[in-house]
Amino acid sequence: MPKSSKSNGVTAKKSSVPCDVKSLSLAEKGRGRIEWAGRTMPVLKQIADRFAKQKPLKGLRMSACLHITSETANLAIALKAGGADVVLCASNPLSTQDDVAASLVVDHGISTYAIKGENHKTYYRHITDALNHRPNLTMDDGADLVSVLHSERKELLEHVWGGTEETTTGVIRLRAMANDGVLQYPIVAVNDAMTKHLFDNRYGTGQSTVDGIIRATNRLLAGSVFVISGYGWCGRGIAMRAKGQGADVVVTEINPLRALEAVMDGYRVMPMGDAAKIGDFFCTVTGDTHVIRKEHFEKMKDGAIVANSGHFNVELDLTALAAMAKDRRIIRDFAEEFTLKGGKRIVVLGDGRLVNLAAAEGHPSSVMDMSFANQALCSEWMVKNHKTLEKRVYTVPEDMDREIARLKLKSMGVKVDVLTAEQEKYLSSWEMGT
Ligand SMILES: NC(=O)c1ccc[n+]([C@@H]2O[C@H](COP(=O)([O-])OP(=O)(O)OC[C@H]3O[C@@H](n4cnc5c(N)ncnc54)[C@H](O)[C@@H]3O)[C@@H](O)[C@H]2O)c1
Repeated sequence: MPKSSKSNGVTAKKSSVPCDVKSLSLAEKGRGRIEWAGRTMPVLKQIADRFAKQKPLKGLRMSACLHITSETANLAIALKAGGADVVLCASNPLSTQDDVAASLVVDHGISTYAIKGENHKTYYRHITDALNHRPNLTMDDGADLVSVLHSERKELLEHVWGGTEETTTGVIRLRAMANDGVLQYPIVAVNDAMTKHLFDNRYGTGQSTVDGIIRATNRLLAGSVFVISGYGWCGRGIAMRAKGQGADVVVTEINPLRALEAVMDGYRVMPMGDAAKIGDFFCTVTGDTHVIRKEHFEKMKDGAIVANSGHFNVELDLTALAAMAKDRRIIRDFAEEFTLKGGKRIVVLGDGRLVNLAAAEGHPSSVMDMSFANQALCSEWMVKNHKTLEKRVYTVPEDMDREIARLKLKSMGVKVDVLTAEQEKYLSSWEMGT
């Protein structure tokens, strides 16, 4: 049994570090997956190699609440190479890759608290386990760890220098904390870096969400009506990929600018009340709550498939759906069929949790390369700068963002033009017209 406060996990071998994972015997499979992902993470690899020489995170205790995937494993390995003492816990009950979690413990000696399918209680116990590490730096994806730290574990705040946040929903929560004057240390919004949301949220979520829906259903998208709620960075990506599969894409929005953009990108835009009647597939990705609710479930066609790729499953009112159902059963892996009183069936994928992580493997590693390069460099930046920072949310320094883009292009063998002296002068002057 691994060392842990209390363990729900079933383990086969002894571990040298505290952990709670499904089974350490899965490590070999996880090892291959981590290596495979690392092959298309050249920017992170370059940072890891420098970290190994310079040890910029030496002595730093880190608690990271992230999706425990093969890409996250490569980030944790890079941070450890930089000298950090890292502990990981899951940022979602359904997003853990159990074999990766096992390999992190067995092969890399990184304490990991994460089991795919863990219940609510275990999810929060794992966050507490990670916080017991008394972090100097927090790394969060959705701000659950930061929230527990500020509410239930305030005594640990004195050790914390700073933090980083990965996703849109987390950044929104942290800005709300800063506005209310309760945020107790500086946090960098990694999500706001261009090299994060332009690529991870759009191309990563786009591909992996469609992948998750297809894996969970094996249904043909071509010729179907695919309703997407939210035309932000993620929604744009999902729309692009669903259209590429031949679906008739319908967008629902609340923001007129985003709605207009969707119209001009060639999609039909309408309120959910209308879209509910015609959709074959539904996917919410708004960061909002109860976007699909009772009045919409009532209008849906028999067999409608409903998923969410936003950070929390509150985007779907599953309590209302459960109350409307006379029967429910798991019909396939990650697909639960609710039969309503009149006999109509509605299928919910992955418990309404991020479908790309619940039913597929999350973003491809080449896109996480940039997100996690930001995480690694922001950790280093925080170590260097925390003494002069205020208790608020910071954006990623622009030169860091550009450098990550430059390194990514280089790794892809893509060259770009450089300004001539004449162009530099022209672009910085106001006197020159036609
Ligand atoms: N699945 C993943 O792997 C993944 C990856 C990145 C981000 N996320 C999450 O996805 C969510 C969206 O992220 P984003 O970067 O696209 O955010 P965003 O702010 O760019 O876009 C969200 C959009 O939803 C719209 N919206 C809000 N309420 C709505 C409602 N009731 N109906 C219709 N539209 C509504 C907003 O107007 C906005 O255009 C967040 O929760 C984020 O944390 C998930």
